[in-house]
Amino acid sequence: MEFGETLRRRRMVRSFSGRAVAEPVLERILDGALRGPSAGNSGGWDAVVLQGPAETAVFWEATTTEQWRKSSRRWPGLEKAPVAVVLFAHPGAYTARYGEPDKEESGLGAGSESWPVPYWFVDSGFAALLLLLGATEAGLGGSFMGNFRGEEGLALALGVPENRRYLGTVLLGEPGGDDPPSASLERGRRQAEEVIHWAHW
Ligand SMILES: Cc1cc2nc3c(=O)[nH]c(=O)nc-3n(C[C@H](O)[C@H](O)[C@H](O)COP(=O)(O)O)c2cc1C
Repeated sequence: MEFGETLRRRRMVRSFSGRAVAEPVLERILDGALRGPSAGNSGGWDAVVLQGPAETAVFWEATTTEQWRKSSRRWPGLEKAPVAVVLFAHPGAYTARYGEPDKEESGLGAGSESWPVPYWFVDSGFAALLLLLGATEAGLGGSFMGNFRGEEGLALALGVPENRRYLGTVLLGEPGGDDPPSASLERGRRQAEEVIHWAHW
């Protein structure tokens, strides 16, 4: 697929057919995410890849309630996503890297609290976008799930080291075709003349 078409086609897919993603396709999508930019080449993100209903249930059970699962209009098709890529950022990788001789002048090696922009979330966000674009290019659908509850329980259930910070989860799979539009889309996408400020705001 041509790159421009991949960009135009990408959108959040919230309903999946449930068909498994072939291993080579999944590996290609994951490999694409590893090619993202990384501050200081710190590479401070990790993914726990869950495949199939038994593994992806760990994500749903940790981050949603039974009440939500029953009431969400997106739930029936969303839960069928055959792959959930759970993303974690590693602040310590960046403070260590920026404490090295070629970066120590930045003063950012002292601790993650002093960082004006937490690069660990920037890099992990780039990786998430590459997963979404890779899925689109492969003819699959993808969706970024932010969470407001259960992150600690999820990390615990997945055996994630305590020094990692949860970013979100990318669901991947064949679209189900009955995707209810998100209420957020009613806002419309901001147009270039509104967003891009040439030379001065
Ligand atoms: C940081 C972030 C968190 C998001 N969280 C959710 C989420 O929890 N559930 C959901 O359905 N969509 C979520 N979205 C998707 C947005 O609603 C969506 O990207 C936006 O409405 C634009 O639609 P599009 O991506 O299909 O173009 C999230 C997107 C981002 C970037």
